[in-house]
Amino acid sequence: GSNPTGNPFDIFRSYIATELATVSEIPAETIYSCLETTSKVGNGDLILPVPRLRLKAKPADLAAQWAEKFPTSSLISQATSNGVFLQFFFNTKVLNNLVIPSILHEQKTYGTNKSGAGKKVIVEFSSPNIAKPFHAGHLRSTIIGSFLANLHEACGWDVVKMNYLGDWGKQFGLLAIGFEKYGTEEELKEDPIKHLYDVYVKINAAATAQEEEIKAAKEAAEKEGKTYEAPVTLHDEARAYFKKMEEGDEAAKAIWARFRDLSISKYVDTYSRLNVHYDVYSGESQVAPESMQKALEIMEEKGIVVKDEGAVLVDLTPYNKKLGKAIIQKKDGTTLYLTRDIGAAAERYEKYKFDKMIYVVASQQDLHLNQLFKILELMGYEWASKCVHINFGMVTGMSTRKGTAVFLDQILETAKENMHDVMKKNEVKYAQVEDPDYIADVVGISAVMVQDMAAKRINNYAFEWSRMLTFEGDTGPYLQYAHARLCSVERKSGYKSEDTMNSNYDLLVEQQASDLIRILAQYPDVVNTAMKTQEPSAIVTYLFKMSHVVSSCYDVLWVANQEPALATARLSLYLAARQVLSNGMELLGLKPVQRM
Ligand code: ARG
Repeated sequence: GSNPTGNPFDIFRSYIATELATVSEIPAETIYSCLETTSKVGNGDLILPVPRLRLKAKPADLAAQWAEKFPTSSLISQATSNGVFLQFFFNTKVLNNLVIPSILHEQKTYGTNKSGAGKKVIVEFSSPNIAKPFHAGHLRSTIIGSFLANLHEACGWDVVKMNYLGDWGKQFGLLAIGFEKYGTEEELKEDPIKHLYDVYVKINAAATAQEEEIKAAKEAAEKEGKTYEAPVTLHDEARAYFKKMEEGDEAAKAIWARFRDLSISKYVDTYSRLNVHYDVYSGESQVAPESMQKALEIMEEKGIVVKDEGAVLVDLTPYNKKLGKAIIQKKDGTTLYLTRDIGAAAERYEKYKFDKMIYVVASQQDLHLNQLFKILELMGYEWASKCVHINFGMVTGMSTRKGTAVFLDQILETAKENMHDVMKKNEVKYAQVEDPDYIADVVGISAVMVQDMAAKRINNYAFEWSRMLTFEGDTGPYLQYAHARLCSVERKSGYKSEDTMNSNYDLLVEQQASDLIRILAQYPDVVNTAMKTQEPSAIVTYLFKMSHVVSSCYDVLWVANQEPALATARLSLYLAARQVLSNGMELLGLKPVQRM
């Protein structure tokens, strides 16, 4: 408790900033914001890269001067210069006594902060399309979006988690017609997502076949010099049906609402396996026609739309060639994906008055979102600048046992089955696992998620079961294993966590202990870095590094058969490490297991 920000480094930061301000005559706030943590302990606990201060004098000279003048104290044992860097070394005992108790005291809140207090963010993520495959892009959006929602919550934001379903457009006219022909009530209730997909595949094939027949018949007629009268096609019917839907036809809307509701209830179950729970299931179908009408009027007022053969479009090329021309309304008066996004954004601002809105969507849609944001800006919405696109690269090679993955629950089921196989290979250990089915599910899903978040978002990666499921290397199962092992340290120690209260942290004198304490102290900063970059890999990389440090402690810092004072001091260090690991894993959306 005495440390309100939850960041043990802040005490040192403030102290260094104040002292160095006296020595250097640079404002303390400037110094404070330029102090950085280091990845190598030998480089000091905090460093000041002097070039960041942008002063006239040579940075290396300043670093040397200031190092000489900086007073050592009970907090800072040493200040040295190294080229253009000024390195500060903490007094280890002070750090020990600060870090471990604050982690054990704050528990789940260690690493969180209040930087977003009073601010609201909408995180829109996953957003699959009903009756279409749930592809890798949706999986990534789900994983990364859920992380970003957790991250904002950890930074004190009020978060609205939103799923914006692709549930509107001409293809749903086709789906409705398809359901009349091929749909059954039983199958719809049994597995709505799969059944609607099957129906869509069938009707789509039928429509394509029909087009080919017509083409052939037309060619044949032309050869014979006859005129050919094209029949009303399935696609024509679909367009007409969709127009009915857009005009608010009750019967059409009712059928549609059922497809949507049944699909959502199935999604809710599947998402919960991923630890994802939405506040709102919105979707393209939910955007009010009036919102889009109003948007069109505003665009006309602002003079940014042009009519082109009955269609309405915005020419964005004067602002940026790459943005091209964006169609807002089709010839037949129906709306498009972009139109609905414009209407949806305005509705969301009306309703939530958000301070930020994040769209977690694959980089294939960079153009779409850039067009959307530009149009909102041209419409005069000052909140347009609060919209952010968080994009990410592609995944290749994603397939399940039954073939190419099309459904989220199949991907998760395959993860579980494959993990189960891996676990069975170690017969002795497998026999001890109490609930192998649950463990296989949770650890298998961790494998999928960690693989996805291990590198920078924008990178493409290949989906590889064998690599992601091993316990060696930087994988989800490895993190789970590291957590379970820390849990077992406590179980085997014979002590309870209460016994570690008021431990004598001065007994933690080994280098491994200091290394671990320093890295645990960095966690709140790592959360801040992730917030700046919106990169889950910042957390993943940190957790691997931290787990490696923990594992090098096991050889040296024994708990069993040690004097009680030493045993409990060491145990408290392991408990602190477990807390940080568990906090980081939960931030990523993983469920840390106690045994495996
Ligand atoms: N349903 C879309 C797709 O699968 C993604 C929606 C992204 N969000 C948005 N507001 N456009 O491609």
